[in-house]
Amino acid sequence: MSIGPRGIMRTRCDSRHLSPPHPTAGLTLALHLSPHTTDDIEMADEKPRGMKKGLTAYGDQGFSLFLRKAFIKAMGYTEDSLSRPIIGITNTFSGYNACHRNVPDLIEGIKRGVMLAGGLPIEFPVVSLHESFAHPTSMYLRNLMAIDTEEMIRAQPMDACVLIGGCDKTVPALLMGAASANVPSVLMVTGPMMTGDHKGERLGACTDCRRFWGKYRGKEIDAREIGEIEEKLCPTAGTCMVMGTASTMACCAEAMGMMIPGGAAIPAVMADRIRNAEETGARAVAIAAEGLTPDKVMTEAAFENALTMLLAVGGSTNALIHMAAIAARLGFELDLDGFDRMGRKTPVLVDLKPTGQGYMEDLYRAGGATTIMRQLKPLLNLDALTVTGRTLGENLDAAPPGWDQKVVHAFDDPVYKDGAMVVLRGNLAPNGAIIKQCAASQPLLQHEGRAVVFSSLADLAERIDDPALDVAADDILVLQNSGPKGVPGMPESGYLPIPKKLAEQGVKDMVRVSDARMSGTAFGTIVLHVSPESAVGGPLALVRNGDRIRLDTAGRRIDVLVSDEELATRRAAWVAPEPKPEDRRGYRKLYMEDIEQAERGVDFAFMRAPTRGVVPRA
Ligand code: FES
Repeated sequence: MSIGPRGIMRTRCDSRHLSPPHPTAGLTLALHLSPHTTDDIEMADEKPRGMKKGLTAYGDQGFSLFLRKAFIKAMGYTEDSLSRPIIGITNTFSGYNACHRNVPDLIEGIKRGVMLAGGLPIEFPVVSLHESFAHPTSMYLRNLMAIDTEEMIRAQPMDACVLIGGCDKTVPALLMGAASANVPSVLMVTGPMMTGDHKGERLGACTDCRRFWGKYRGKEIDAREIGEIEEKLCPTAGTCMVMGTASTMACCAEAMGMMIPGGAAIPAVMADRIRNAEETGARAVAIAAEGLTPDKVMTEAAFENALTMLLAVGGSTNALIHMAAIAARLGFELDLDGFDRMGRKTPVLVDLKPTGQGYMEDLYRAGGATTIMRQLKPLLNLDALTVTGRTLGENLDAAPPGWDQKVVHAFDDPVYKDGAMVVLRGNLAPNGAIIKQCAASQPLLQHEGRAVVFSSLADLAERIDDPALDVAADDILVLQNSGPKGVPGMPESGYLPIPKKLAEQGVKDMVRVSDARMSGTAFGTIVLHVSPESAVGGPLALVRNGDRIRLDTAGRRIDVLVSDEELATRRAAWVAPEPKPEDRRGYRKLYMEDIEQAERGVDFAFMRAPTRGVVPRA
């Protein structure tokens, strides 16, 4: 189907409307026949489309359509508009969400693309989540957004949907919801922020947030300077401009084929982003006609491509949880050991913070995700179908030729030759744990030390800076009860702060172990996602001050050096945390009763599709 101005030139308009091409020409649409007769309400289509999809249940479908049309006409639509393919657009603008500040501009671009292609765009709100404005955590609310997205796509009449996401949890939530609704969908991200600067040094959220906060804690900079930095860390609209979760998920989604090529890296404030929005809108009309549903794009091959991208960008550990959740919505189990095997053959190629030096605008100037995928070609499933209607390989072939650049390294000259992440198992994590070895202090990857245990976030906050805390630089900091159920919401508290007295001595990194998550923007030797979590009686709950812990990254193990007998004694004495009064009602009750562990994506167990395979495939 042709789109855009050429399509308009070829269209023969009727006497009433100078309108773009009708992309459903050839389909029987009773709605289009006569605005004022009962033809409107005849169910002529075998498969309802447009306004006739998902009628409200009044027990009389004709009346339901009549009433729907009566109300939608209050918006000022003509019959011609209402006969068009309807493209829903998730409006995730929120006054609390600076990462989505440009959503109104993107909606305008998407709408233009939809209308040029002959569709009718209709935006609708869904939950919007910003990392710093979500209590207790955005992960706690990700599934709420996913359910909202799924049900609103299903509840409202639309032939395809443009999903606008950006901030960390929004892209996974939208893809989870779209996967379950299985209406043709295409993703558009808000794009990364531009960098700021401080005294001539480039600044980016939030690797530099953490770096400067560490300097402030270590008294290298004073309150006035940290205040100045606060003004400059987030200088424009858009998502964090390092390879944090938002950038990682954007790159993974592009590799998975759910975005128009080039969409992952274009900065939020660039005109290119709006052109990408227009193209996305036009393509949404096409996928509506083609019936290109998410299950045809998000296949095992596509998930493997996304996981390869995750490793090659040295991406956020959070993305692994999100990929497990999205895959589960389509019936695929994420195989952690298979992912670890992928890591052994997939080097880190992208020189971006927190692993390297650059920022997302540098990746954009280097050609974006396309440049990365060109290097990864031998590892990718190039025959995987994408939302363009072409395969990933065809998209890469159609892209402009590459050029000399320094951000994406050649496959045989990587930024980090081993895999970005390692899956650990052992008596401390029978169901797995993750360490991002490319963002760790390399000497600490093989380490044995004495455990200094914090039983909760509150305990951590109370004691970490206590001058009397018994802690040394070669100890291992352990945080319990911060997993999916622990707080609840699996906070990004796995990046335990270096105890102040050690920070003031210049200690920059220590081995830290928890069932929590970590921001993709953080750097350190940090073992995360320990499963089962301590709040459900996982072995992490049994660790005591003074136990020896051994981290053997090369051997893929994390163990507490305590005998099985002693662990059994401690397990017998373990008492589950008492439910709190707030755990007994509302969304929180649902969450506390049904949330799954990290390796299963921290989604509700009842949201999974029946299992039909594993990713990556063996
Ligand atoms: Fe939104 Fe970082 S806070 S992407």
